[in-house]
Amino acid sequence: LRRFFQPKHFERLRVLLTAGPTVEPIDPVRVLSNRSSGKTGYALAQAAWEAGAEVTLVSGPTALPCPYGVTRINVESAQQMHDAVMQNLNGQDIFISVAAVADWRIKNVSPEKIKKDGKTTPNIEFEANPDILANVATQKNAPWCVGFAAETENLSEFAHAKRLRKGIPMLIGNLAQHVMDADHTTVSIFDDRGEHALALNSKQKVAQQLVSEIAQRYQQSRT
Ligand code: CTP
Ligand code: CA
Repeated sequence: LRRFFQPKHFERLRVLLTAGPTVEPIDPVRVLSNRSSGKTGYALAQAAWEAGAEVTLVSGPTALPCPYGVTRINVESAQQMHDAVMQNLNGQDIFISVAAVADWRIKNVSPEKIKKDGKTTPNIEFEANPDILANVATQKNAPWCVGFAAETENLSEFAHAKRLRKGIPMLIGNLAQHVMDADHTTVSIFDDRGEHALALNSKQKVAQQLVSEIAQRYQQSRT
């Protein structure tokens, strides 16, 4: 099927992605999560497969079908996503971290449903989740890493700083309020040469453009 798709930017490459939100339990019936439809990550997984890659997608809960040709691993919490990524890291050429990972999980998860007593509110305590992308980037033989950043303000400043802080060659940024759950998106690419904006387009089209932008930089890094 994919010989009909052109061009083959990712021929013979193995690409690992994360997508969607993570879901952190509070008690057996309540969760804490992030707003993420998974559309951008799934569109990238599909575009990477169409470009010739062998694609593994570690996904939090979404309403989306698994893209054709892609191997999907379903997870819920950030810790599960972290473990699934680490278990599948060996031999990957490129890691694209699109997931909206919960920065914190609940420390005092209740084994039973927390009941209302009409007077008090629950005391939820937090602890930090692992930073999956930062951990991948510092592994020995790490794949070439691409991060995402959805900001609500100061996109350029925050995205440049985030790329450097995570120690990754490429970060794709956007303003969250403009694209959340939408079928269209506009993104900027941040790398060591600066900032480069792509025009507003469908998430499918932007994903294809990003595959080409990622492939160019990945190939350059290897020469
Ligand atoms: N990320 C990750 N694991 C986390 C948090 C984030 O892998 N625990 C990844 C995201 O998938 C994304 C990148 O890191 O590719 C940036 O995520 P973002 O939430 O924008 O940045 P943070 O470093 O978490 O900073 P903040 O939320 O404070 O802006
Ligand atoms: Ca975060």
